[in-house]
Amino acid sequence: MEHIRSIEELAHWKSKELEKKTGFVPTMGALHVGHLSLVRLSQSISDRTLVSIYVNPTQFNKAEDLAAYPDTLEADLRALEALGCDAVFLPSAQMLYPDGLKSRRFDFNQLDHSMEGAGRPGHFEGMATVVTRFFELIEPDFAVFGEKDYQQLSIIKQVVTKEGWPVEIVPAGIFREADGLAMSSRNMRLLPDEREDAAQIFAILSTRISRLNLQETSPKAFANQCTEALNAVPSIQVDYVSCCDAATLQQVDEFNTARSTRVFAAVQCGKVRLIDNLPLF
Ligand code: PAJ
Repeated sequence: MEHIRSIEELAHWKSKELEKKTGFVPTMGALHVGHLSLVRLSQSISDRTLVSIYVNPTQFNKAEDLAAYPDTLEADLRALEALGCDAVFLPSAQMLYPDGLKSRRFDFNQLDHSMEGAGRPGHFEGMATVVTRFFELIEPDFAVFGEKDYQQLSIIKQVVTKEGWPVEIVPAGIFREADGLAMSSRNMRLLPDEREDAAQIFAILSTRISRLNLQETSPKAFANQCTEALNAVPSIQVDYVSCCDAATLQQVDEFNTARSTRVFAAVQCGKVRLIDNLPLF
């Protein structure tokens, strides 16, 4: 696996086998099996895969979150090597932000107004700034994003369409622990009791979905029932539960099975904020 640390090394790697289709998996490191499933997906659809590891300052709105972000670079490199990943890109801030740590402006078509966008001002601008900079430097044929961060995935698809980036965005399903908890670098910060409680996010949402009677229950009532059940779990405090149109991410007032709809949840579990989402139909 090549370790690429400069724009020159990147240009050299790109020029080596120009006919090869390149798959790109952007990450912030602290890799877990969920990230690795994206790498495998990229490998299955492209000829060579490049993973970036870069903790992007402009998408953090709290300095302490950025400072506390786990750094497990050696283990990350070993895991990527073991998977047969072709290259890892380890850029510096200077390479990505030659004019300083500033976010670009974007037209997200209101996809950033709800959920994570509402509570984390500037987060999606910072994320999209670094991702489009990666597209500019790497020029991948495919880029893989996890449905774990469904709003991020939707926003990147919107930016690619709106700005005409020549890259295909490939969604990857949510990779879960055996008990259903969506894998996340943050899960390791949960205390043992909290870790057990965190499994209730998936358990409650999936059970409620399987019992949902679309004729009798409104989206609001469904979200309220899920919120109540989640708040009854000792370590969990709900931030939001919301039924949203899977394309527009707008909250729905009525269920309409002709429009793909998902339930989104963000909760505080002990000191850790966790998000998840599941399809309703
Ligand atoms: P990071 O949180 O490291 O996530 C990298 C990719 O892994 C994202 O596409 C995310 O959705 C995906 N992912 C994380 N956990 C997953 C799981 N359990 N199942 C499936 N996919 C999962 O997201 C970012 O980094 C950053 O915002 C980034 C795109 C790298 C830009 O800085």
